[in-house]
Amino acid sequence: MTHDITLTVNGTEHELRVEPRTLLIHALRDEMGYTGPNVGCESSMCGACTVHMDGNAVKSCTVLAVQADGAEVTTVEGLADADGTLHPIQNAFREEHGLQCGYCTPGMMMTSLHLLAENPDPSEEEIREALEGNLCRCTGYQNIVRAVENAAETMRAEGRELATDGGGD
Ligand code: FES
Ligand code: FES
Repeated sequence: MTHDITLTVNGTEHELRVEPRTLLIHALRDEMGYTGPNVGCESSMCGACTVHMDGNAVKSCTVLAVQADGAEVTTVEGLADADGTLHPIQNAFREEHGLQCGYCTPGMMMTSLHLLAENPDPSEEEIREALEGNLCRCTGYQNIVRAVENAAETMRAEGRELATDGGGD
């Protein structure tokens, strides 16, 4: 039996039919074409699939698509402005060399933004704690932490209250 669900992703509404066992990560990538969130472990270990769902950072391999019916989802694709201007977190990862292969990066950014929405001025320890569930096989943690500090500073200076707002504007 399939289910019809409606999801708003980065401000765009999608209606789709999914199997009861379809995971949100697969609905996003395979059904809707949002290939920013990556599939790593599919068992809640790596964080590569992290997106925002109704304001919370969630590992989208741990959420069934049917559970996300009616939700507002933001993926990494929703961070930049419509004119291509990068979000401060994206600029910061670039400036601080916060990525190597980039596989973990979308999840790292989404988890970091959730932290910054709750705590705009986190300590290094708080950043490391927040990112505990996100693994980087390239072990670039030092630069990732610096990138989050850099983004936090920019976002405070710009007076950005919310890390993500559905994106694209
Ligand atoms: S793919 Fe979801 S946590 Fe690893
Ligand atoms: S940059 Fe390669 S896994 Fe993190």
